[in-house]
Amino acid sequence: MNLITIVGARPQFIKAAAVNMALRLAGIDERVLHTGQHYDDNMSDVFFRELGIPVPHWNLGIGGGSHGTMTGAQLAGIEAVLMQEKPDALLVYGDTNSTLAGALAAAKLHIPVAHVEAGLRSFNRRMPEEINRVLTDHVSRWLFVPTEAAVANLRREGVVGSDVLLVGDVMYDVALHFASLALARSVRSVTFEKLGGQPYVLATVHRAENTDDPQRLRAIVHALVALTDEIDVVWPVHPRTRSALAKLGLNVDARKGLHCTEPFGYLDMIEMEQAAQLVVTDSGGVQKEAFFFGKPCVTLRDETEWVELVEAGWNRLAPPTSAEALVRAFRSALGTTGQAIEPYGRGDAARRIADILQGSTA
Ligand code: UD1
Ligand code: UDP
Repeated sequence: MNLITIVGARPQFIKAAAVNMALRLAGIDERVLHTGQHYDDNMSDVFFRELGIPVPHWNLGIGGGSHGTMTGAQLAGIEAVLMQEKPDALLVYGDTNSTLAGALAAAKLHIPVAHVEAGLRSFNRRMPEEINRVLTDHVSRWLFVPTEAAVANLRREGVVGSDVLLVGDVMYDVALHFASLALARSVRSVTFEKLGGQPYVLATVHRAENTDDPQRLRAIVHALVALTDEIDVVWPVHPRTRSALAKLGLNVDARKGLHCTEPFGYLDMIEMEQAAQLVVTDSGGVQKEAFFFGKPCVTLRDETEWVELVEAGWNRLAPPTSAEALVRAFRSALGTTGQAIEPYGRGDAARRIADILQGSTA
């Protein structure tokens, strides 16, 4: 089988690390197309260097702009490559604009689409990711599903049968593979060294619903600053958030106990997750990584796609409506754990995906 994989945003590079390795072992010829959606060194290239993903065959250099502008330009760029290359299948990850652009381009050229991380739903159609994932699922030939809850979501939409493939979560594979490597490095991350063993909370924020709503972003900043009276906070700041903070004149850099940094590479990130007391985030991937490493998590959202972690007590939802409510949520989560559950498979999701693709006739 000859496959083209679409990546574009940070979490997709990380997922591709596991799947690329498995595809290679299964003898599948994979070439990677980078849309260019994320382009800073610390949002893109660092992951290729650290995780051994092959250099993309194509980079369309299409990042920034409105949803329509970005998705449309990516769609046209991907279509041109697919018409030229005629791959047997196209593989996409998750729910970004790059995912949707790839899935649409391929489906209309009758190239079968493999969707990794299918079936997730927030049931909030105001999220761009929800639109992207619903549409991608409905044009995909193989729906590689991470959880039972995602299978049930698809069933509710009438997507059933042998195309729905519960394989587990490839992010679990990646975390298992790299967790100890991150700690075994001869040089630890600058932030880890700087903290010198002090306890800390690790925070990330990038969802449009938080960054683009001044009231929510202010509540988050004030709550994190308030938390520093009790415990240090490490916050690698996403570029979208960096510019939203600047627009509001919120200076987060000169606060005692609040360590705002550039985005981390993956190895630094999972090193910091493994030693944190608490994870505070609106990221999908980071919610799960907190659980992989046995850390409590507060999710700065109204809902989550990873409902099993809330049900098992590992994660609690804290919509950022006020700083006081957030600080209460942080305090009550610190020091807690959840039930022992195994919702994300056994760390072999990527191998299962590769085996299924290898045994399929497109
Ligand atoms: C995107 C995805 C989101 C995913 C996130 C992962 C969509 C709709 N959103 O959100 O689902 O969770 O990636 O991080 O696809 N920017 C830079 N440098 C970069 C990348 C972005 O400066 O390397 C800035 C640009 O100003 C850009 C803004 O961040 O306009 C937002 O980037 P964009 O890719 O549109 O959305 P994300 O918020 O990153
Ligand atoms: N991540 C990283 N550096 C950071 C923040 C996050 O490497 O500074 C990793 C994180 O460990 C996880 C992935 O990025 O594997 C999650 O991506 P992100 O939060 O950007 O997007 P989401 O998962 O919400 O789509």
